[in-house]
Amino acid sequence: MIYFDNSATTLPYKEVIDSFTQSSTKFFGNPSSLHGIGASAEKLMSMARKQIASILKVEEQEIYFTSGGTEGNNISIKGTALAFKQRGKHIVISGVEHASVKEACKQLRDEGFELTIIPVGPEGRVSAEDVVGALRDDTILVSIMHVNNEVGSIQPIEEIGTELKRFPKALFHVDNVQGITKVPLDFKKAGIDLCSMSGHKFHGLKGTGILYIREGIALSPLFSGGSQERRVRSGTENVAGAVSLAKALRLSTERMASDLAKMSQIQQYLREGLNRLEGVVVNTPAHLAAPHILNFSVPGVKSEVLVHALEEKEIYVSTTSACSSKKKAVSDTILMMTGDEALAASSIRVSLSYDNTIQQAETFIRSLKDILEKLQEVMR
Ligand SMILES: Cc1ncc(COP(=O)(O)O)c(C=O)c1O
Repeated sequence: MIYFDNSATTLPYKEVIDSFTQSSTKFFGNPSSLHGIGASAEKLMSMARKQIASILKVEEQEIYFTSGGTEGNNISIKGTALAFKQRGKHIVISGVEHASVKEACKQLRDEGFELTIIPVGPEGRVSAEDVVGALRDDTILVSIMHVNNEVGSIQPIEEIGTELKRFPKALFHVDNVQGITKVPLDFKKAGIDLCSMSGHKFHGLKGTGILYIREGIALSPLFSGGSQERRVRSGTENVAGAVSLAKALRLSTERMASDLAKMSQIQQYLREGLNRLEGVVVNTPAHLAAPHILNFSVPGVKSEVLVHALEEKEIYVSTTSACSSKKKAVSDTILMMTGDEALAASSIRVSLSYDNTIQQAETFIRSLKDILEKLQEVMR
């Protein structure tokens, strides 16, 4: 079995599951309880927060636990809109944001906010100049993802953040769900105010996530309740989830240090292999792309046909992105990058983890060649 769908989700590390099981049983108390059982759960959670803050090089009080990327994005966007609507009602995003950003903003637009969507160029990137050029006096939020989930293009976050320092009324949110533990990002240096991450994309458990909120920013909460997570996210804390998340982040950050070069080599091998195959077009840009995502199209062959043909050989890849792949066949991102319907209707995403090997990449290219030759024979 070759699992090349790691941008959809990853296999949790065994150590992560072990830490979840152990903390669920040994530290089952409610961190808000006044007695010792509650206090020890609270202490454990606080250690997890400290460890995450230290890995991300931010302050402990800037880390909030969430259920994942979708929640982090919604809290950031709607929480900013609710808190700062007196200041202004204008929001700027890129045209290739994840649905949890795009749809949250569209919902706000229905409530009277104004939205400017910045298109990406042929390499799947916005220009910092375009983003900053869209800012107005009433802009309260700019939300740009770090790494695009479909093609892996890296957005100019540091450049945008630096420019945004001239606009103190506008907060800067970054969806870092695909970037974390693959592409380094210094939150402080890049002037990021809010940053969402998701545990299950780096071998953590589903339903766990991190939201960085720069100290001094007071968002409006989306849930009302017991004021946990300093009012940002009411609800009894998922202590074991937080502990296992810290473990996943530490292990994956270590793997980034030891295995990033290997991952890039596998990606390069795949790129060269794909470039040699007749009828294949690689969509991921050759420069400024994350090491774990490679997107390609075979114009004339629908994405799902190829996904299922590969599945028959026990190779698992995605069509557009996991969340949209069941809804529609055409990739808006590829369409915006290329303007080519045939490329957009036939795009395939291969996404790696640090556990994939060059041998798997060889098998993948061989199998794909085989499938395409057979398909071409049938189509003749
Ligand atoms: C860029 C990006 N943002 C947000 C999300 C949503 O994250 P989650 O699945 O943790 O809600 C995803 C998931 O695919 C993603 O790729």
